[in-house]
Amino acid sequence: MSDPLTSPEARLFHPSNEFAAAAHVGSLDAYHKLHQRSLDDPEGFWGEVAAELTWSKPWDRVLNADNAPFFKWFEGGRTNITVNCLDRHIEAGQGDKTAILWEGEPGDTRELTYAELLQEVCRFANVLKGLGVGKGDSVAIYLPMIPELAVAVLACARIGAVHSVIFAGFSAESVRDRVLDASSKCVITADGSWRRGKELLLKNIVDDGVEGCDCVEQVLVIQRHLAKEPFAHNWTKGRDHWFHEEVARVSDECPAEDMDAEDMLFLLYTSGSTGKPKGIMHTVGGYMVYTYLTTKLTFDLKPNDVYWCTADIGWITGHSYIVYGPMANAATQVMYEGAPNFPDEARFWDIVEKYHVSIFYTAPTAIRAFMKWGDAFPQKHDLSSLRLLGTVGEPINPEAWMWYHRVIGGERCPIVDTWWQTETGGHMITSLPGAVPAKPGSATLPFPGVDAAVIDESGEEVERGLLAIRKPWPGMLRGIWGDEERFVNTYWCKWGGKYYFPGDGAIRDEDGYIWVTGRVDDVVNVSGHRIGTAELESVCVAHPAVAESAVIGVPHEIKGQGLVAFVIIRTGAEGEESSWRTELMAMVDEKIGKFARPEKIVFSVDLPKTRSGKIMRRLLRDIAEDRPLGNVTTLADPSIVEQIKVKYQERA
Ligand code: WTA
Repeated sequence: MSDPLTSPEARLFHPSNEFAAAAHVGSLDAYHKLHQRSLDDPEGFWGEVAAELTWSKPWDRVLNADNAPFFKWFEGGRTNITVNCLDRHIEAGQGDKTAILWEGEPGDTRELTYAELLQEVCRFANVLKGLGVGKGDSVAIYLPMIPELAVAVLACARIGAVHSVIFAGFSAESVRDRVLDASSKCVITADGSWRRGKELLLKNIVDDGVEGCDCVEQVLVIQRHLAKEPFAHNWTKGRDHWFHEEVARVSDECPAEDMDAEDMLFLLYTSGSTGKPKGIMHTVGGYMVYTYLTTKLTFDLKPNDVYWCTADIGWITGHSYIVYGPMANAATQVMYEGAPNFPDEARFWDIVEKYHVSIFYTAPTAIRAFMKWGDAFPQKHDLSSLRLLGTVGEPINPEAWMWYHRVIGGERCPIVDTWWQTETGGHMITSLPGAVPAKPGSATLPFPGVDAAVIDESGEEVERGLLAIRKPWPGMLRGIWGDEERFVNTYWCKWGGKYYFPGDGAIRDEDGYIWVTGRVDDVVNVSGHRIGTAELESVCVAHPAVAESAVIGVPHEIKGQGLVAFVIIRTGAEGEESSWRTELMAMVDEKIGKFARPEKIVFSVDLPKTRSGKIMRRLLRDIAEDRPLGNVTTLADPSIVEQIKVKYQERA
C-alpha cells in the first residue's frame, strides 16, 4: 500500500450535508462525544443499547471482567437472538416487511417477508428437533447461498443448537476436520449449488467428509438440484433425510429456547498461525447487541433501505452482516447465490438496479475485479438507488477506493471501510458515514465502545506499530473451541494479558486515523480469506516426494495477496517437477479447497535457514517482491538465496 503518512491520497471525503443531516450520527463532534462517552462509561453505554432489544430476563451485570480475558457480557440476562431478529418485528407490526429478496444464479427468485421467514425458521427448527437435535448440540451447515442457509442458521439459534457453518468452497477433508473438532451431530447440506453456470454436488462432498465420523447421526439434505435427471448420489439409510420430506410433517410454530446471554451461539473456524484451524466461539447476548448496533450505525440503516452484502454466510461477514445484524434491525436485504460474472460481468449491477439496492457492502478483491472488467458494465445500469458503499476483508488500495467512489458511488455515496475479524464479531474500526470523513485506504476511527490503539511491543503508543484493542467489547470471541491455552496465547499474551492482539500492523496518522497495513503473523489474506501458511505447508509436506516447504504471501493484483510455496524435494525422489506441481495443486484442492491454491510452486534445493535451522521467510518475500535481499550473514549458507532467486524467476 502507499504510505499514508506521505501519500497525497490522504485527502478527506466528507458526506454530503443531506446525508449527514439524515444520519443516525451526523457530525464528527457527535461521533467524538459518543465515542468518549462509550469509553468513559462502557456499562452505561452498552446497557442502553441492549435495552433496545427484547430479553426474557434482564441482565444482572453488563460486564464482568473479574476473570480476564474470560469476559462475560450481560451476565444473568436471558433472551433468544431469533426473537430479536424475527418475532420482535412481527409484534411491532412489521410482519409484512420484506426480509429477503433472493436471486439464484440461474435467475430463479424468492421473496420472504419477516412473517414468512419466522414460519420457515420455526419449521426448520421443528425438523431439527424431530431429528433429535437440541440445545447445546453442534450442527454443521454446508450450504450454498440459498435462503435455507440463513433459515438453517436461525433455526439452530431458535432451539439453542450451536451452528458451525462451513463455507461451501471447502473440501471434504476440511469438512471432516471441522465436523470432528466440533463433534457435530447433524450436518445440513444441499444436493447441489450453482457457480458460474456449473452445478457443484455438495452432498457428495459431505458424504466423503463425514465418512467414518462417528459423531454424525443425521445428514439433512435440501433439494437445490435443478436438472431433470436426479444426480448420482449415495444415500445412507437412517442417516440421510430429505429436508422437503421432513418439513411436510412439522408445524410452523416453534417456541424460542430461552438462552443465557453467555450460552454459545456459534462456532466459526478460521485460520491461524498453526496448521489447525481455530473454532472461534461466540455467545448469544454480547454478539447480538454488537451486531445490532454496528449494523445500525456503520450502515446508517433506515427502514426503507435495501441492503446488500455480497459475502457468503460461510464467513463471519455473512454471519454478522447478512444474518444477525441486518435481521436484528428488520432490514430488507438482497441475497444472491452465484458468481459476479455470470452470465456476464454486469450481474451485480443488474441486481442493484433491479432491487433498488441502497447500501452495498463488498470486498476490495471484488472491487479490483470490477475495475479490471471495465466501467462499461456498471455504466450500463442505473445505480442511482445507491446511497452508501462499504468494504471489508483487507486493506483497500486508494486506486480501488477512488474507482468505487467514482464509478459505483457516482461520487455521492460515502464509503465505509470496515476493519474487523471473525474474532471481533463485528466492526471495530470504521467511519460512521454521516460523521467521519473518509480517507481512501484508511478504516478511519474506532467504533463506539472500541478502544483501538497503535502501540509497540512495550505498549507505548506509536505512529507505526501493532494494532491493539485496550478494552473488552460485547462482540468479542469468548474462546477457541477446546483450546483455552491457544486462546490466551494467541490474543492475550502480547501485552501481559491487558490488551487484545488482533495480529495486524497499523499506522496512526495525525488526525488519529488508523491505517491497517495487514497481518503481522503467518496468516495470508487471499481475496479476503484467511489462510495460514502453515496449513498450506502441511499439505505440501504430505506429498511423498516433498522433504520440506515454506509458504509466503505475496502481493497480488486482484486477490490482494496470493500464496507462493517453496518446496524441497527429497533426494532420490522419483518424478519430475511438472507432475509434482500438478499433484500438489490437486492435494490443495482436496485438503483445503480450490481457493487456497498457490500462485506459484517453486522447487528449490534448500530454504534460507539460520544456523539454528529457522527458516527466514523474510528473505523469501524479498525474492518474491524483487527487493534487494536483506541481511544474509546469519544464514547457514548464504549462497542458497541466489539459487532460490534463479528458480523463482524461472517460474515468473
Ligand atoms: C483483514 C473478516 C484492512 C485483517 C471480517 C484482519 C482488513 C482479517 C479489513 C480478518 C479492512 C479485514 N482493512 N484489513 N477493512 N477487514 N481485514 O477473520 O488482516 O476473515 O485481521 O474477518 O482481515 O479476517 P476475517
